Amino acid sequence: MKATPSRRYLDNAATSWPKPEPVLAAWNRAAREVGAAAGRAAYRSAVEADAIRQRARAAAARLLGGVDPARVALPAGCTLGLNLAIHGLVRPGDHVIATAADHNAVLRPLHALARRGIAELTILRCDGLGRVDPAAVAAAWRPGTRLVACPHASNVTGAIQDVAAIAAVAHARGGMLLVDAAQTLGQIPLDVAALGADVVAAPAHKWLHGTAGVGLLWARAGIEPEPLVQGGTGSRSESLDMPEAFLDRMEPGTPDVPALAACAAAADWLEARGLAATGADCRELAAACAARLRVIGGVQVFAATGAPIVSFTVEGYAPADVAVILEQAASIEVRSGFHCAACVHEHLGTSAGGTVRASFGPSNDRADVDAIVRVVETIRG
Ligand SMILES: Cc1ncc(COP(=O)(O)O)c(C=O)c1O
Repeated sequence: MKATPSRRYLDNAATSWPKPEPVLAAWNRAAREVGAAAGRAAYRSAVEADAIRQRARAAAARLLGGVDPARVALPAGCTLGLNLAIHGLVRPGDHVIATAADHNAVLRPLHALARRGIAELTILRCDGLGRVDPAAVAAAWRPGTRLVACPHASNVTGAIQDVAAIAAVAHARGGMLLVDAAQTLGQIPLDVAALGADVVAAPAHKWLHGTAGVGLLWARAGIEPEPLVQGGTGSRSESLDMPEAFLDRMEPGTPDVPALAACAAAADWLEARGLAATGADCRELAAACAARLRVIGGVQVFAATGAPIVSFTVEGYAPADVAVILEQAASIEVRSGFHCAACVHEHLGTSAGGTVRASFGPSNDRADVDAIVRVVETIRG
């Protein structure tokens, strides 16, 4: 699974690439040979499509720490999962606490609710690495606070939040915790119960190495978001009301069966390879890259390497220009700018143009670290 040498892909935090062969094979087989809609009919290929969805669900339940598959919905992506949770749980008059480290997939739906006067939103500040102090959650608590949202890891710095401590604060006050695990699912072993999360959302196409088109949304028993999206479920079709079951309410519409097949195959691939060891290898590359960039004059590094993400700026150069130079000089593909995180840059001191972000996957190696360091050294001349 080595990337072609003509591309040094370092944007795995956006989406992992290249995808493992078994993932592509599973996607291809489902698209070419199964083809049918899942959960809608009784003919053989439709039943197989449904079995694929159940395999993906079982895999997702394993990856979240052995949870009940009946509580793991597979919506069309992480952004949709987060919106289903937020719009489905926040009630008029609620106060919600989020963090400056959150992604816009969390902040924008909450901000939209606040703008419409439906809920009040407090966005907690973070430190210069994107970490939030759990004591700040306690300090921001009000009588109407019902939901806290936080990322498990920042998609800009990789910093892991102290989710268990934040959960303890929320639970002691009768609130719920929504965790955005987009940057940790498939990167570090997860146990949602140990984290103390009440709801978790994540995509399949990032560190899990599935494809876009499917996300994970887990909610513990007793947490029943109102359905944000209404539509066909293949169940209770004679009724105009959405069915009561969590999965039906969170999965209306025809699912992306090839993406579900890819998700199940990706989980098998990662578990066989060793999820913890694979993630550790990626983080080691990120740590090596961060350490070597840090000693270059005029380079500022923002990397906690909780997830294998290294953000940096180069004095005198806009991040967008650095990204262009990296590609032109050494075919290095990185992202630059704000990384869909509206608030974190104020705390990093990178509000001018954001950062350059390199993120390392299992196909990267030391040569990729050497290549990026060499180009940045040359830029600084
Ligand atoms: C922290 C975080 N949350 C949510 C998302 C949204 O994921 P998706 O675009 O796959 O829906 C991303 C993607 O970049 C992310 O990094």
